[in-house]
Amino acid sequence: MKLCTCVNFLVIVTTFCSILSKVNSSKNDTNSYSFVLACGATNNATDADGRIWSPDSTYLSSSSSSNSITSKAKYQDPSLTSDIPYMTARIFKTQTAYTFPISPKSRHWIRLHFYPSSYDNFNCSNSFFSVTVGEFTLLNNFSASIIAQALTQAYIIREFTLVPLQTSTLNITFSPSSVYKDAFAFINGVEIVSMPEIFQAATMVGFTDQTTDTQDSFMQTMFRLNIGGQYIPAGNDSGLGRIWYDDAPYLFGASFGITSVANNSLKIAYPSNLPEYIAPVDVYRTARSMGPNPDVNRNYNLTWIFQIDANFTYLVRLHFCDFEMKRMNQRVFNIYINNQTALEDVDLIALYAAQGVPAYKDFVIYATAQPGDDQEMWVALHPSDKTRAQFYDVILNGLEIFKINDTTGNLAGPNPVPSPPPVLATDSQPKPSFASNKTSKKGIIAGSVVGMAAGFGIVLGVLAFVKRRKNMSNGGNKSSRGGWLPIYSSSRTTETRTTISGKSSRSSHISNMGGGLCRRFSFDEIKHGTKNFDESRVIGVGGFGKVYRGEIDGGTIVAIKRANPSSEQGLHEFQTEIDLLSKLRHRHLVSLIGACEDNGEMILVYDYMANGTLREHLYKHNKPPLSWKQRLDICIGAARGLHYLHTGARYTIIHRDVKTTNILLDDKWVAKVSDFGLSKTGPNLHQTHVSTMIKGSFGYLDPEYFRRQQLTEKSDVYSFGVVLFEVISGRPALNPSLPKEQVSLADWALHCHRRNTTKEIVDPHIKGEIIQECLKQFVDTAVSCLSDHGTDRPSMGSVLWNLEYCLQLQSNPDGPKVVAEQKANDAYAMHTELLSIEEEGGEGQESEDHSTEAAFSQIVNPQGR
Ligand SMILES: *[C@@H]1O[C@H](CO)[C@@H](O)[C@H](O)[C@H]1NC(C)=O
Ligand SMILES: *[C@@H]1O[C@H](CO)[C@@H](O)[C@H](O)[C@H]1NC(C)=O
Ligand SMILES: *[C@@H]1O[C@H](CO)[C@@H](O)[C@H](O)[C@H]1NC(C)=O
Ligand SMILES: *[C@@H]1O[C@H](CO)[C@@H](O)[C@H](O)[C@H]1NC(C)=O
Repeated sequence: MKLCTCVNFLVIVTTFCSILSKVNSSKNDTNSYSFVLACGATNNATDADGRIWSPDSTYLSSSSSSNSITSKAKYQDPSLTSDIPYMTARIFKTQTAYTFPISPKSRHWIRLHFYPSSYDNFNCSNSFFSVTVGEFTLLNNFSASIIAQALTQAYIIREFTLVPLQTSTLNITFSPSSVYKDAFAFINGVEIVSMPEIFQAATMVGFTDQTTDTQDSFMQTMFRLNIGGQYIPAGNDSGLGRIWYDDAPYLFGASFGITSVANNSLKIAYPSNLPEYIAPVDVYRTARSMGPNPDVNRNYNLTWIFQIDANFTYLVRLHFCDFEMKRMNQRVFNIYINNQTALEDVDLIALYAAQGVPAYKDFVIYATAQPGDDQEMWVALHPSDKTRAQFYDVILNGLEIFKINDTTGNLAGPNPVPSPPPVLATDSQPKPSFASNKTSKKGIIAGSVVGMAAGFGIVLGVLAFVKRRKNMSNGGNKSSRGGWLPIYSSSRTTETRTTISGKSSRSSHISNMGGGLCRRFSFDEIKHGTKNFDESRVIGVGGFGKVYRGEIDGGTIVAIKRANPSSEQGLHEFQTEIDLLSKLRHRHLVSLIGACEDNGEMILVYDYMANGTLREHLYKHNKPPLSWKQRLDICIGAARGLHYLHTGARYTIIHRDVKTTNILLDDKWVAKVSDFGLSKTGPNLHQTHVSTMIKGSFGYLDPEYFRRQQLTEKSDVYSFGVVLFEVISGRPALNPSLPKEQVSLADWALHCHRRNTTKEIVDPHIKGEIIQECLKQFVDTAVSCLSDHGTDRPSMGSVLWNLEYCLQLQSNPDGPKVVAEQKANDAYAMHTELLSIEEEGGEGQESEDHSTEAAFSQIVNPQGR
C-alpha cells in the first residue's frame, strides 16, 4: 500500500515537471507588443479599466477603408460597463482584411469584441459573417446577435490564440455571409497581443501514453475562471489582457463547496519553471474546496459543467496552489473530465514540498455528442480513498478550457438555437416545449444551448434559463454571471421611483439620470442642498462619515453621505466603488443617485428613505410597533436585496455588515439594504481585505469568520439570522443589561430553540398575530442561518424562499394544504433561484408581485399545476 502510493507520487511529479520545464525552454524572447483598437473610432480613448484603445483605420489598406463604414451605436445598453470600444463600430459590406505587422516567431492572442446593436441603417440581427486568418477559420456564419441573445449579454468577446505564423504580417479577414441577403460583417474592438508560448503537448484523457501537441493549432478560449475567486479584469493580468471570471455559475448542483483565500502572510511562490504570466497571483490566492466534513465530501464530486461545441478537441488547464495544507497526504484527490479519470491521487504538497506553490496541469479530451444530446464538458474532483489522506478534500484554483481547431483548421461552432419562449419549469416534468429544444436531462442545467458558441464568461444553467424565461433582452452584462441582471432594464427609466419621497414629478428625472452612469454633482449643489452641511440635517453618523438629509433639483429629498476627510478610503478606491455601486440597481437596495468629487470631497447621494431604519421600528424609539405581516414583508425585501448582492452582480458582493440599522424603509415601507459596497468587499482588488480586516458589528458577527478569518456570503446569512430574531423578538442583538445568558440574542435564541421555548422570545406586540406554523417556519429558518459552519447555513436564496413560505402560511393558513415541508424544500432547491430572480426584474412591481405569487403557489401546491 505504502509503496504503491509513493510510486504514484513519483509518476505525477515527473509528468508535472517535465511539462513545466518545457514551457520554460520554449519561451521565446520576443518583445511583447499589442494592438488595442476601437474600430470605427477616430481618437485614442480610455475604457473603464484604464486601457487605451486606438483607432483602427491605420490597419486597413486605403481600398479596405473605402469598403467599410464607421458608425456609432444608436443605443447604449446600460449594461455596457464601458462605452469603449463598444459604441463605435466598423461595418464591412464586402470581404475586407485588417493587416498587422507582427513578429513571425511570436504566439498571439486575438480578441474580437462585438456589440450587436443598431448602427445607422444596419441592424445586427442581419449580420452573418466569417472571420479567417490564413487557412484557419475563427468564426463562420457567425451571428453576434443570436449569440448575445442566447447568452443574454449585451456584448460578446471572442478570444483566440494563434501559433507563430512565421510571417511578418497578420491578416484578419472579415467576410459577410453570401447565404443571407444583405448580410454584413461588423466589429467593435480588436486586440492583438503578442504572448509567450504557454502551451505544450498534453496528455490525452483516457490514453496515458498519448500526448497531443497543441503547439501547432489555433485555439479558442472557451472559459477562463478564477475558481473560488472573483472577476479579474483585463488590466490586472500581466499585460496579456486576459479576463478571469468567477466560477460559481458553472458549479453543478447544490454542492458548492467552500471558497478560501490564502492568508496574506503566505507568499505565493512561483517555482523557477513556472513563469508568472501563466496565471496571475490572484488566481492562485483563491480556491474552492469541498468543505470540512469528510463524510459529506466522500459522497459528492465537486463538479463544474460547461457548454461546449461537440466534435472538437479541448485543452483543459487546471491551476492549483494548495495554501492550506502543510504536509504530504493531507489532501489527495482525483480529477475526472467527462466521466473519465484524468489523473489520480494528486497531492500538491507531495509534488511541490511546500505550501503556496502554483502549478497547473493540462489535459486534452475529444468531446463527442450526438445531435440532440447535451454538449457538455464536466470537470469533477473527488477525494482519493487510496492513500487514506488526513482530510477527504480537493482543491482547485483556476480553470481554462480551450477549443482546438479541427483537422481542417476550423474553430467555428454552430450558432445557438434561439431562445425558447418563456415557460415555467417544474422539477418533475420538463415542459415539452423545452424538451424539444435541447433541454438538459438533468433539469437544472437547462441552459444547454446557451453556452455552445459561448466564448467565455457566460451564464450557464439555471441562471440563463431564468433569464430566458424572463425573455428580457436588455440585461446584458459582462460578468460571468451574465446578463440576467436586473440592473437598468430600460423600462426602469420610465418607472416612477417610489423610493424617493418628495415631489414625485422629480422622481422620474432622477431615474433618468441614474439610468446612465453615475450622476456627478457639483460641490455647490451639495452645499446648497444641505444648507452648508448644517448639523441639524444630520440623519446618521457612520465610520465613513456623516449622512445628511438634503435637497436636490429644487425639492427632491435625498440622503447625502459625506466622507470624513480622515477616512482611509482613497480617491481611487472611492471611484471604483462608485462605478460598482452605480451599476447596482435593485428594488431592495438603496440606490446611489450620484456623487461629488469636487475639491477632493467624497460625497455620495442616495435615495432618501422616509421611514428610516428597521431598528427604530422594532424597539427603543417609541414608534408604533410593526405588524407581523409588515415585519415579514420587510424581511423578505431585505433577503431579496442581499440575495441580489450575493448572486446578481458582476462581483459576488458580501455586505459584511448586515444589521437592522442597515435595512432602511422608504415611504411605502419597502425594505432596502444600505451601506453595501463601501465595506471594501466588492471587486477583486479588495480581496485581501476580505480575509484580514474584521468589519461588522458585534452581535451579528459570524463565529466562523473569527475562527477562519474568512469571509463568505454565508457570513451575511449568519448576520441576517440575527436580524430575523431581532425582528421577531423586538430586542437588540446585544443587550448588556440582561442576564448573562441573554445578552447575545443569537445565543439566547438558539438556547430557547433547543429547549423548545422560542415562544417566550416573541415580541408581545405581535404574539397574538402569528400563526403557529408560520412561527415555526420562521424560527427554523433563522436558526439554520445561525449554524456554526457556513456550509450548513442556507443560501440567501433559500432563506428568501423560506420567508416567502412563511408569508404564505401566515396569509393563507386554510388555503390548499401545501406539500410537506421537506418536499417543498426540495422543490425550492430547484426553484429558489428561478423564483427569486424572476421576481427581481424591477419593472412593473404590481403585476410582477402577482406573477411571483402565482409561480410560488405552483411550486408549493402541486395540484395547482
Ligand atoms: C494613441 O495611443 C497609442 C498607443 O498608446 C500611441 O502610440 C499613439 O501615439 C496615441 N495617438 C494619439 C493621437 O494620441
Ligand atoms: C465522481 O465522478 C466520477 C467520474 O464521473 C464517478 O465515477 C464517481 O462515481 C463520482 N462520485 C460521486 C460520489 O458522485
Ligand atoms: C459529431 O460527429 C458524429 C460522427 O461524425 C456525428 O454523428 C454527430 O452528429 C456529430 N455531432 C454534432 C453535434 O455535430
Ligand atoms: C489545426 O489546423 C491545422 C491547419 O489546418 C492542422 O495542421 C492541425 O493539425 C489542426 N490541429 C488539429 C489538432 O487538428
